[in-house]
Amino acid sequence: MVFSEHTRLQYLNSMGITVWQSRFMPEYTASPVELPQSITIQTTIIDSWEQLNLEVSSCQLCSLCTTRNQTVFGEGNVNADWMFVGEAPGEHEDKQGFPFIGEAGQLLNEMLHAMQLTREEIFLTNILKCRPPSNRDPHVDEIKQCHDYLQRQIMLIQPKIIIAVGRIAAQTLLETNEKIGKLRGNIYSFKNTPLIAIYHPAYLLRSLTEKRKAWQDLQFALQTFKSL
Ligand code: URA
Repeated sequence: MVFSEHTRLQYLNSMGITVWQSRFMPEYTASPVELPQSITIQTTIIDSWEQLNLEVSSCQLCSLCTTRNQTVFGEGNVNADWMFVGEAPGEHEDKQGFPFIGEAGQLLNEMLHAMQLTREEIFLTNILKCRPPSNRDPHVDEIKQCHDYLQRQIMLIQPKIIIAVGRIAAQTLLETNEKIGKLRGNIYSFKNTPLIAIYHPAYLLRSLTEKRKAWQDLQFALQTFKSL
């Protein structure tokens, strides 16, 4: 064991031993502890639903904040295994503040029912948290500004599987311009979470002939989930 000079003197002193000291011995001064440069102190920022909700509801990162009635954060089980990500709020969602409550939402409910899932057990949100005027497609800069919110939701939930509902969600999460017809039917990964793309219910409402494919998508999603 190696003692500092100061500690050694304290020991000897407490044993009643007087130690001769040079009058010229410098006084003991503790030298400041220096961390080697290789040691960095990491701070972990812990996110919370309250914080995220607050940031989304007051967001002004893009111009959609000037036309929205309110933000649509998403809803459902914050510990969900299944996370469904749609495109953006429409007129009804913008008025009421919840995702998928219009006609497309009704069909989504039926799709969930067919999978023996309920809205209460999944988490449902959108790529954009604000409604684009006249329900136009989201712009690239709007998607970029909003993306961090979705990523934080995914981090907080840590779902077992992500279902990208429709082209915009699939293309955004997979960072591709590939058509939804090509993307469906495959298992992808979003930051290590399995991701499956399915047709958007709004598209299915317009194209009833694709309903059979939509049913196949749901079966595929269920099979994939069971195999995880
Ligand atoms: N409503 C939503 O919340 N998202 C969609 O993608 C479509 C309708």
